[in-house]
Amino acid sequence: MKTLLIGADGQLGTDLTKVYAADQLIPLTITDLDVCDYEKVGEIFRASKPDVVINTAAYHRVDECETYPDRALAVNALAVRNLALVCKEINAILVHFSTDYVFDGEASRPYTEHDTPRPVSAYGISKLTGELFIRYLYDRHFILRLCGLYGVRGSMEKGTNFVETMLKLAQEGKEIKVVNDQTLTPTYTRILAPRIKALIATQRFGLYHMTCDGGCSWYEFAQAIFELSGLTPKLSPTTSEQYKTPAKRPRYSVLENENLKNVPSVEPMPFWRDALKDYLEERKASPLRR
Ligand SMILES: NC(=O)c1ccc[n+]([C@@H]2O[C@H](COP(=O)([O-])OP(=O)(O)OC[C@H]3O[C@@H](n4cnc5c(N)ncnc54)[C@H](OP(=O)(O)O)[C@@H]3O)[C@@H](O)[C@H]2O)c1
Repeated sequence: MKTLLIGADGQLGTDLTKVYAADQLIPLTITDLDVCDYEKVGEIFRASKPDVVINTAAYHRVDECETYPDRALAVNALAVRNLALVCKEINAILVHFSTDYVFDGEASRPYTEHDTPRPVSAYGISKLTGELFIRYLYDRHFILRLCGLYGVRGSMEKGTNFVETMLKLAQEGKEIKVVNDQTLTPTYTRILAPRIKALIATQRFGLYHMTCDGGCSWYEFAQAIFELSGLTPKLSPTTSEQYKTPAKRPRYSVLENENLKNVPSVEPMPFWRDALKDYLEERKASPLRR
């Protein structure tokens, strides 16, 4: 199966490149292909004829999406519509990623794939629109809703993930305040990659929630990072009211991997804290500097 990977140098993209044989993978960065360039998408897909297209590209700076909703819709919805149309034309499976932010966060139990999305941010609206375009245009798809991603590559190249931010603040001896009223499931991208590959192989198309097990607040996530790293910075909880952001976040966005649990060939997702432990061990072993 020849697989074309869009966003190959992102957090998830980097881990996905490691689970595919080099001669079966066409890894494309934004320099090779911008998903908003419809003409080039058509040219590349028709010339390379992949069996599977994996799209990790997204505009996911959640607060910026409030200011630039047109950009959010262009990357997260309209470009995705175009991908679905071109995949249909060449009969390639389309694998696309969505988010826990399609939900409003008012639930008091994990959201399943059967729950009705109701996004509360421009980012969430744009991602849900992308989902809807795929679902009504083309059956041979996987839409995988993820949550709270962190990956070694993203951290090294861009310094963007939450774990690295916390470790940096601790090293600087800063007093750290983290919100304790938003509950999520942190998910390590390296854990996802082989399971995504295994799920694609089943061709059991559809919508899947795919996150680590369990849930915690951002504050509890920070606590775990420091405990597992042997650090003792000044950490205290705060609230979303005190830590105001342009975009509203769901108060509770833990996802239940209900559909995934019915696919026996995909290994179960680990508890979020165990995955975090793996990440912290692997970053220690990484030869690249931060
Ligand atoms: N990060 C999270 O916490 C999170 C949570 C839930 C769901 N998700 C979803 O999971 C997926 C992967 O996220 P991630 O954290 O791996 O993202 P990431 O690290 O930002 O990777 C995305 C990749 O896509 C590239 N890209 C951005 N815009 C593009 C465009 N117009 N055309 C082609 N490539 C483009 C990025 O390049 P540049 O970096 O050069 O822009 C980057 O290489 C996304 O769909 C995201 O919405 C993420």
